Amino acid sequence: MPDNSRFTVTVDAPGKIILFGEHAVVYGRPAIAVPVIQVRASATIESRADDAVVIDAPDIARMSTLRDAPADDPLATIIRLTCARLGVPPEKFTVRIRSTIPVASGLGSGAAVSVAVARALGKYIASVTLAPHASVGMPNADISDLAYEVEKLHHGTPSGIDNTVIAFEQPVYFVRGKPIESFRVAKPFTLAIADTGIAAPTKIAVGDVRSQWEADRELFEKLFDNVGTLAHNARVLIEQGAIEGLGGLMTANQILLATMGVSSLEIQRLVDAALGAGALGAKLSGGGRGGNMIALVTEVTQDAIVRALLKAGAKRVIVTMVGGRQ
Ligand code: PMV
Repeated sequence: MPDNSRFTVTVDAPGKIILFGEHAVVYGRPAIAVPVIQVRASATIESRADDAVVIDAPDIARMSTLRDAPADDPLATIIRLTCARLGVPPEKFTVRIRSTIPVASGLGSGAAVSVAVARALGKYIASVTLAPHASVGMPNADISDLAYEVEKLHHGTPSGIDNTVIAFEQPVYFVRGKPIESFRVAKPFTLAIADTGIAAPTKIAVGDVRSQWEADRELFEKLFDNVGTLAHNARVLIEQGAIEGLGGLMTANQILLATMGVSSLEIQRLVDAALGAGALGAKLSGGGRGGNMIALVTEVTQDAIVRALLKAGAKRVIVTMVGGRQ
């Protein structure tokens, strides 16, 4: 047997934002999402002398064993599923999770933790069993599939966009059930991501949209179609480097999301503040109701927009570049 007495593997995964198409993506329309590298979740797997699997998540003051975790616990689920996929029993390691991604805010914290744990376990197990592809670990598609299973615990009918963009760590044009499509960002652009500070579980917003869709399918199918057209047109502009045109599409997407009932006073206040300070466009990102909004900024407007967002109540603002060096 290999000596794995002091063996440790650490892997991290980025956050994400949805640029276009949230909610409509659950109903088969395209959406665009990009990784956000300024916030990350990391998973460390450390070998243990005893047989236990210990879950240590100091950020949420959690320390427990896998054996004692409930069947639907997200961390326990990703550990169990990954070990089952790799054909090994879960035993003899500690999983330590750290994350700077705010939870329930549209930045993909749950999916990032799942991706980091699955990828770290893949590498760890490949290494301690001296598998031939030890340095490679599991393919991104497998990691994305495993994380998707956990997304189902977070909200019943996930589209799969979060686990896909985070596992592949590149901009994606995502259509539910279709193979991942990446695309060229011809000219980098900059977004300010502002947090309303309101934790809003995606499950509730997704459920509310579903009830409204059931009550008026004709209206909601039309709203989803319009969102899908915006996502399609946005991809064309991004591929052409015609960034000036993107802002109008973002603000149009925000109006459609508000019509679906997933915006909020706090989000709208930040959207208005960003537009008032010169943003080319602004919208909520993710499930809505709270969480984060995004604004398209330029080098010239960036500072004024960040100040305006903080003044309008944003709890924090992250500036991130899409495409090019981040
Ligand atoms: O709130 P988030 O970042 O998990 O994004 C949810 C996106 C939705 O389209 C609302 C749901 C989904 O599964 O795609």
